[in-house]
Amino acid sequence: MENFKFSYTLFLFCFLTFELCNRGELRKNFYRTSCPHAEQIVQNITWKNAASNAALPAKLLRMHFHDCFVRGCDDSILIDSTTNNTAEKDAVPNRSLAGFEVIDEIKTQLEQTCPGKVSCADIVALAARDSVSFQLDMSMWEVLTGRRDGIVSRDSEAVAEIPSPFSNFTTLKQSFASKNLTVKDLVVLSGAHTIGMGHCNLFSNRLYNFTGKGDADPSLDAAYAATLRSQCRSLSDNTTTVEMDPGSSLVFDNRYFWTLLQGQGLFQSDAALLTNNIANGIANEMLIFGKFLTEFSQSMKRMATLGVLTGKAGEIRKKCSVVN
Ligand code: HEM
Ligand SMILES: *[C@@H]1O[C@H](CO)[C@@H](O)[C@H](O)[C@H]1NC(C)=O
Ligand SMILES: *[C@@H]1O[C@H](CO)[C@@H](O)[C@H](O)[C@H]1NC(C)=O
Ligand SMILES: *[C@@H]1O[C@H](CO)[C@@H](O)[C@H](O)[C@H]1NC(C)=O
Ligand SMILES: *[C@@H]1O[C@H](CO)[C@@H](O)[C@H](O)[C@H]1NC(C)=O
Ligand SMILES: *[C@@H]1O[C@H](CO)[C@@H](O)[C@H](O)[C@H]1NC(C)=O
Ligand SMILES: *[C@@H]1O[C@H](CO)[C@@H](O)[C@H](O)[C@H]1NC(C)=O
Ligand SMILES: *[C@@H]1O[C@H](CO)[C@@H](O)[C@H](O)[C@H]1NC(C)=O
Repeated sequence: MENFKFSYTLFLFCFLTFELCNRGELRKNFYRTSCPHAEQIVQNITWKNAASNAALPAKLLRMHFHDCFVRGCDDSILIDSTTNNTAEKDAVPNRSLAGFEVIDEIKTQLEQTCPGKVSCADIVALAARDSVSFQLDMSMWEVLTGRRDGIVSRDSEAVAEIPSPFSNFTTLKQSFASKNLTVKDLVVLSGAHTIGMGHCNLFSNRLYNFTGKGDADPSLDAAYAATLRSQCRSLSDNTTTVEMDPGSSLVFDNRYFWTLLQGQGLFQSDAALLTNNIANGIANEMLIFGKFLTEFSQSMKRMATLGVLTGKAGEIRKKCSVVN
């Protein structure tokens, strides 16, 4: 009996510690000993690419967001579809996702330097931060590391989890709440739309046929709507793209909030932020650039920990586009 008790306690202890070891956590410079130059390699290759492609920060920032919102930040976004599975990459909200080749270039270098050590999920998180930081020449938010790569990627999940640009405030709030993100995170992170491009058909209902009577969205600034109509010539134009923050779409500033508050947010999901008093108040606070930078870095840090796999969960993918 005593013997049984002892073995049982031992078993419980091992089980518990195994669980603890297994769970692990993200931490600063996770690769300090296993791949000391990992973060510098990511930054060097990202900056080299950002220097020749000013659109890259928007691509990598959006990739990071889409990755984290579906199955957590586990790099499921990079997995290619197979004959039996349509992956997130090929879901409708993926349109215009890009920058995959930069992640591949980084991964190839890291596999040469320290094979099997650095996850694709960490590369995406680091490269997003580094690409946005390139212009301001500083590290804009802290990225903890130690993520592991997932082995599942489904288009249906991307369709369900990625918020639509036609969403109202209630839907956006719920979407973020389901990721443990607050209304403040929602408003602050929407400030990412200060860089990048949007396709006409994702907002042209606001220009041409908002309520089915050939009308425009009354909440959209009339002069801005006219400018947009000159760029997006029809309701069904799904090829033309426009700057989300006109004249400043390559610069990570806080102009998004200035234009948003003038009724010039591009998507209904942008305009929706003004329909709630609390969100509207936060948008106003973001007019101070320093405040926006501080809040953005905190919200990004939260988003970057969503549903991460750590410890022994998942795997370290050899190639980011295929599970091992
Ligand atoms: C709040 C809910 C959000 C909605 C409904 C939304 C929707 C969209 C849509 C429809 C586009 C245009 C895609 C295209 O036409 O190709 C876009 C672009 C973009 N989004 Fe969001 N987004 C949201 C939140 C975020 C967040 C949280 C981030 C990052 C932190 C982000 C970063 C970006 C970036 C950087 C682009 C530009 C991509 C490019 O230039 O290719 N978005 N978003
Ligand atoms: C990164 O780039 C810097 C400057 O070009 C260079 O001095 C450094 O050796 C590079 N580091 C790595 C790890 O590639
Ligand atoms: C697809 O499914 C079939 C039948 O279940 C299986 O034989 C095949 O190996 C699968 N292919 C891949 C690439 O997983
Ligand atoms: C996104 O999905 C479409 C199919 O819906 C596919 O044709 C396209 O190549 C995908 N884009 C990327 C970047 O994978
Ligand atoms: C917001 O959109 C959802 C989904 O389309 C809808 O069910 C809901 O009634 C809308 N809420 C408001 C306040 O318009
Ligand atoms: C949100 O928090 C709850 C409670 O702490 C946790 O169970 C859940 O997994 C979290 N969701 C995400 C997406 O991180
Ligand atoms: C505008 O919407 C209405 C109602 O959905 C539809 O009958 C009409 O054909 C649309 N007009 C255009 C130009 O698409
Ligand atoms: C754009 O619209 C055309 C015509 O409606 C359609 O055939 C095509 O698949 C659409 N392309 C995308 C990327 O949605």
